Amino acid sequence: MGVDRELLGSSEEIHGRFAKAIRTGDPNQSAISLGITLNERLVGYTLLNRYSEDVNYSHWHIIDSNLRRRGLSTALYPFRIKAYFDVAPISRLIHQTRTRNLGVNRMLDKFIVVSETKLIDKPDGVASPGEFHIRCVGRDDIPRIFARAEELGIIPARG
Ligand SMILES: CC(C)(COP(=O)(O)OP(=O)(O)OC[C@H]1O[C@@H](n2cnc3c(N)ncnc32)[C@H](O)[C@@H]1OP(=O)(O)O)[C@@H](O)C(=O)NCCC(=O)NCCS
Repeated sequence: MGVDRELLGSSEEIHGRFAKAIRTGDPNQSAISLGITLNERLVGYTLLNRYSEDVNYSHWHIIDSNLRRRGLSTALYPFRIKAYFDVAPISRLIHQTRTRNLGVNRMLDKFIVVSETKLIDKPDGVASPGEFHIRCVGRDDIPRIFARAEELGIIPARG
């Protein structure tokens, strides 16, 4: 997945990072992690890293590999985006995705266009340097993302 093992750190350091990202209710909390559950079982997580009102990066991971490529991330995308904007006073979210990661890019292609593709020396989180697609989502895009999900038949059309 292109993770920098140095940045990833030990299991204790990883545990510490997630513990710090459990929601406290502080509107200034710099990292917020949310679990993805399916039938009440934890199957993945997302992490929102916040730097300023308009510089915020999200990470998304389906832990159970048997559940990948089955449409889960696509089906959850509108709800995921709404959740970030609901839990934090942010105005813009940036998706920074490695160009060779076909799954995540195919999923995002359904909703948000790539605005830029570039080499990044210090990508967000624990990723190693490489080529990334950049896509931006604003609070005002949420209704359009839900409409797109309806159009794609991912969520039922409102009457
Ligand atoms: C990448 C990831 C989030 C995709 O989630 P997912 O739930 O498997 O995605 P979906 O099932 O909704 O698939 C979305 C599209 O990508 C395609 N796809 C998914 N994984 C793929 C893969 N490994 N190779 C090629 N295409 C893939 C699906 O077929 C689907 O395309 P289609 O609707 O046009 O047929 C998931 O595989 C994952 O968590 N991977 C490990 C962590 C990771 O890479 N996170 C992203 C970091 S930026």
